[in-house]
Amino acid sequence: MNLYRPVSIGPLELPGNLFLAPVAGFSGRAFRMICVEEGADFSYTELVSAESLIRNPAGPVKTLLRRGGNERRYAVQLFGSDPLRVGEAAALLAPWCPDAVDINAGCPVPKVIKTGAGAALMRNPSVLGRMVEETVRASRERLGGAPVTVKMRSGWDSSSVNYAECARIAAAAGAAMISLHPRTRAQGYGGKSDWSHIADLVSRLCVPVTGSGDLYTPEDAGRMLRETGCAAVMFARGAVANPFVFSQTRSLLVSGAWRPAAPEDKIRCVFRQLDLLAQEAGERSACLMMRKQFCACTKGGPDEGGIPGGAALRNRLVHAGTIAEYRQVFHDAGMEI
Ligand SMILES: Cc1cc2nc3c(=O)[nH]c(=O)nc-3n(C[C@H](O)[C@H](O)[C@H](O)COP(=O)(O)O)c2cc1C
Repeated sequence: MNLYRPVSIGPLELPGNLFLAPVAGFSGRAFRMICVEEGADFSYTELVSAESLIRNPAGPVKTLLRRGGNERRYAVQLFGSDPLRVGEAAALLAPWCPDAVDINAGCPVPKVIKTGAGAALMRNPSVLGRMVEETVRASRERLGGAPVTVKMRSGWDSSSVNYAECARIAAAAGAAMISLHPRTRAQGYGGKSDWSHIADLVSRLCVPVTGSGDLYTPEDAGRMLRETGCAAVMFARGAVANPFVFSQTRSLLVSGAWRPAAPEDKIRCVFRQLDLLAQEAGERSACLMMRKQFCACTKGGPDEGGIPGGAALRNRLVHAGTIAEYRQVFHDAGMEI
């Protein structure tokens, strides 16, 4: 069976199954546009607070919600603890016409879970179920029936692994897809994700399951699709380090081979993102926001597409304040970008 294939999420037809995961602090509009350019079939905004959206729909959340110019299909991810409020927030997404609304049931950040949102929803599956119902209702009334999906973890901690129950309840409440990052909240982002949970969920659900966790290379994605039977894979940290991973994976799945991107190509790609961001946020802020990406793209050994002398480069990159200064750092390192 071809591992690169279309996916249907309720009424939404996606041409392929390589997704960009929501990654707070990274998957803003500019980065999503880069990933779509590099072959992502579907992309998610980072998590957006339902309460902030309700309080001030014209406020700072607007920046998080804007669709990228080339983003033909994207999902907005909401987080919240109150089903009615999340439903209310979903209705306010109408001006952005999202193709799907995703509910965050996996965020482990204390600020989020202490309000009962994110991974805390997994301690309260019935609230998660009602949240899906309210969001489905809002979508039917205000978003043309865009599918509602849920992204969750394996459970709260190792003694309460309950993804199967949470996913069953969410699907029964109308969720059209479940994405599973098979780490517990207690694991945060450390240790290894347990892909056997993805395979198990696939065998239990009638709706598609998307797999997340430790996807860094095209081979990782191929292995996850083969071993778990999931409908789609979601790159997160792997895409931040290498946005080319989408086209590379597609190439591996379709033709059996792929080529690593040259370090210069990766850096050019980060400059493209910087330009896109500068148009929105201004050069100063964009340069500050892009520090992480410049540092990320210089990481890894040469075999992994990293850059020799990356540590010394990063020491200078963290002081760059203008596009010209970023260019100068690479120029001084003998790289023509
Ligand atoms: C810095 C960071 C921010 C993240 N932000 C979100 C988010 O906003 N919403 C979400 O559902 N998951 C978020 N995640 C989880 C990722 O989408 C993904 O499920 C997780 O990183 C596992 O994939 P990976 O091991 O391939 O990175 C985030 C992860 C990281 C590392």
